[in-house]
Amino acid sequence: MPMKSTADRYGTVAVAIHWLSAALVLVLLASGFRAAGTIDPTAKASLLRVHAVVGATVLVLTLARIAWWVFADRRPAEAAGMPRLQARAARAVHLLFYVVLIGMAASGVGMLALSGAANILFGNAPGPLPDFMAYAPRIPHGLGALLLVALVLAHVAAALYHQFVMRDRLLARMGIG
Ligand code: HEM
Repeated sequence: MPMKSTADRYGTVAVAIHWLSAALVLVLLASGFRAAGTIDPTAKASLLRVHAVVGATVLVLTLARIAWWVFADRRPAEAAGMPRLQARAARAVHLLFYVVLIGMAASGVGMLALSGAANILFGNAPGPLPDFMAYAPRIPHGLGALLLVALVLAHVAAALYHQFVMRDRLLARMGIG
């Protein structure tokens, strides 16, 4: 598979960023919801350390992905035979992924910076961890998490619909099959 995309499939760089981001976003959703529901301070701090580092990694991957599309590569053509409305919905979901992921990372960093929790998690500052609900970025971070879950479900459902109902082997464009 070539590094760059062709008219009918994604290249290795786009495929690698896609699947790595997908796996890391699942880690973020699991660790984020888990941390929010955990009272034990040691367990919460461990979860948030992983969460913050993986979140920052996803931000870097998302910015790298944008730079890759802008400067180095061109997307494959839209899947053949897609009705116009469906193609628009797909474009909207893809764009929203970028917006929501960057917004989640920004609000996450904002929460840690404003609350001083970064020094507790990664420096020598003594605990306890703050109540993140007292800081404004917690609201968009929580709402963004729910929107992200909806986007992931829509994205996966659309891919499965193409693969198994339309039988257009869409997943092969992203390196599967
Ligand atoms: C980039 C993608 C990210 C995703 C998908 C994500 C996801 C989540 C989710 C699902 C929650 C739980 C929300 C809720 O229950 O309402 C959460 C909470 C949280 N996240 Fe993130 N997050 C991301 C990035 C970050 C980053 C970069 C940081 C810090 C540098 C961060 C820090 C936090 C904190 C402090 C909480 C609050 C935990 C609590 O309320 O006890 N997140 N995140």
